[in-house]
Order: sequence, then C-alpha cells, then structure tokens
Amino acid sequence: MNICNREGGRCAAMALVCLTDFEQYAKEHLSKATWDYYAAGADECCTRDDNLLAYKRIRLRPRVLRDVSVSDTRTTVQGAEIGFPVGVAPTAFHCLAWHEGEVATARATEALNTCYISSTYSTCSVEEIVAAAPGGYRWFQLYVYRDRELSEQMVRRVEALGYRALVLTVDVPFTGKRRDDIRNRFRLPPHLKLKNFEGLPQAAAEDYGIPSNTLDPSISWKDIHWLQSITQLPIIIKGILTKEDAELAVEHGVQGIIVSNHGGRQLDGGPATIDALTEIVDAVQGRMEVYLDGGIRTGSDVLKALALGAKCVFIGRPAVWGLAYKGEDGLREVLQILHDEFRLSMALSGCRNVAEINRNLIQCSKL
Ligand SMILES: Cc1cc2nc3c(=O)[nH]c(=O)nc-3n(C[C@H](O)[C@H](O)[C@H](O)COP(=O)(O)O)c2cc1C
Repeated sequence: MNICNREGGRCAAMALVCLTDFEQYAKEHLSKATWDYYAAGADECCTRDDNLLAYKRIRLRPRVLRDVSVSDTRTTVQGAEIGFPVGVAPTAFHCLAWHEGEVATARATEALNTCYISSTYSTCSVEEIVAAAPGGYRWFQLYVYRDRELSEQMVRRVEALGYRALVLTVDVPFTGKRRDDIRNRFRLPPHLKLKNFEGLPQAAAEDYGIPSNTLDPSISWKDIHWLQSITQLPIIIKGILTKEDAELAVEHGVQGIIVSNHGGRQLDGGPATIDALTEIVDAVQGRMEVYLDGGIRTGSDVLKALALGAKCVFIGRPAVWGLAYKGEDGLREVLQILHDEFRLSMALSGCRNVAEINRNLIQCSKL
C-alpha cells in the first residue's frame, strides 16, 4: 500500500482508516523476522486464518427505526466499567514494535479507558507499566511455571501493584510449531530483556530467549486450586475452546474464561474462536463472564462476538501494528477506529447500548 504521498520530495502521511491499513504499515516497516514473529501461526496457519474468515461467514439481522441518535458503548468486565468492549490481549515483546514497548500500550489503553492484559513476556516490567499509566485498568497474564515459587512471586508482585485479575494461559503446555520463526532462528535481540524476570533466578534461555524453567506441561485443574489458594484476585482462564472445559471452569469456581486459540499459534486445526463461542456460552449459562480473542479486525466483528455472547473481546496483533505505526498514538488510533466502527455497527443494526446486543442479531444458520 502507498502510505506516503510524495510531493516535492516531502512525505505527507495518508490516513490509515482500518486495521488492515495498520497491518500493511507494520509489514512494510518492521524487520522481516519481527513481522514474521508477530504474524506467525502454527504449522499451516489454518486456524490463524480461519479466525478471520469465520467472521465473514456470519451475517447480521439489522433492526431499523429504533432512534439510534445516541449510542452508548460502555460495558463492564469483572464489575469494572470500561469505555467499550474491546481490550488488549497479552502479547509478548512490544519493544520489538516500538522502543517504549508495553509502556506505550499501557498509556494508550488507559487513554481509551479499556482493559490491558499485560503479558508475562513483556519487555517492560509490571512496575514500569503501572508507573506509566497509574489509572489504567489492568489484568496480568500468568503462566504456571515449573518453579511454583516463581509463579507465586509474580502473583505477589502484581497484587501489590494493583492489577485487578490474573489471566492464566492454559494452551501452551509446549510452544506451537511456527515455521517462519524456526527458519529465521528468531530470538529476542540481546538489547531487549524479559523485564519481569530481571533479578530472578533463570535457567539458560530456550524458546525465543524465554527462560527454560518457565512453562510446566504437567499443569492440570489441580493447579487452579493451587492458584486459588494463594490469591484473592479473580482468575480468568485463557485458552478454552470447548463446552466441556468451560463447564469444568465453572465447576472450579473461576471468575471468567477467554475463548482463545492463541491467535492460531498453538494447535493448528482447532476451531476459529467465534465458531467455538456459541457452545461455550450455552454451557456456561451466565455463571461467569465469557470473553473472546482471535481475528477481531472490525467493529462488526466485535458486534458479532457480543451478539453470540462474549462480554468483551481482545485484540492481539492489531495492537502491535498500532505500536509499530506510532507507539502510544498508533495504538490509540487502532482502538479509536475499533470503537468508532463498533458504535457505527451498533447503530446500523438498531442497538443503542451493549445490553441491546443479543442473538437475534445473528442469522439463524450460524446458531
Ligand atoms: C506475537 C504474539 C505474542 C503473543 N504472546 C502471548 C503471551 O505472551 N501470552 C498469551 O497468553 N498469549 C499470547 N499471544 C496470544 C494473544 O493473547 C491472543 O490470544 C491472540 O493474539 C489473539 O488473536 P489476534 O492476534 O488475531 O487478535 C500472543 C499472540 C501474538 C500474535
């Protein structure tokens, strides 16, 4: 895409109007290895691509003549009000996209009054993130490490910093096979650090420079009990794709789940998240909040996910594209575009507030 309009040797930036414009910008400006790392899906990338395609298969049933002169996009997650139902999913290594990294992400999400799930594998520390945006609403994404003491230390740190929930990622007993990362021998460059691990005992670096003593492939539901025994924070499980696991999550008393396939980076061949949502929402029957990530690229995607029962959705790659464009300001633009598109889609389908979004908006063939 031609982002610059060159006149008289000057480069006047053209407006980026949708998230795919930001994607294109990031592709053209990031190093190949960094772009490949962010874009990667597992194996043949079927699930990654289906996350997006699945939205195109869903059709809406708009209502008219409903006075949509005023619309309200606000909602709540875990009892906290946010400006609109799109947060930022945990993604690693933001300093690869923009020198300020997660600090910029924290400021942008604070400015747009939405939820930021900061990744364990951040290139700024949780302390730096909180200092940069003290009024931001944040959850912390956690892994259960082989060394449970390390996990407990992380929990204590984020509790003390005022993080509002723990998001336990459960779909990475092992890292998925991402072909381009293997071809590129992708590694976190030496000038960047996994700041949340600084000063902690680490074994030798393994995947991407991530400490090898981190992820524990033996984790099971008993570790949920363990986590509950060491914290009062709400626990949200990220990486649920079936009604069976959703029911177990309810039985184990967690406060929420994120329907996620890790952006198609783990198991290739699993369902698109929007296709998995309905059976999960039906199984949960309102007993906890159900969120979703994967493939959200437009405001009408957000509307469809909410209509099918998600309380809030999260964006992964698009946040990084915004950072790659202009750091905090770039991510603000990405979030603002999604906000505005969502509000427009709501109005065009006859919804004045998020409470009015329900399954009647979806053509029956998808239910
Ligand atoms: C580059 C990249 C890094 C990611 N890092 C993490 C991570 O550290 N922890 C985690 O739970 N999920 C991680 N994810 C998964 C995201 O949280 C999210 O599930 C996914 O990106 C959503 O799909 P989308 O990119 O299509 O929006 C990562 C995804 C990407 C693309």
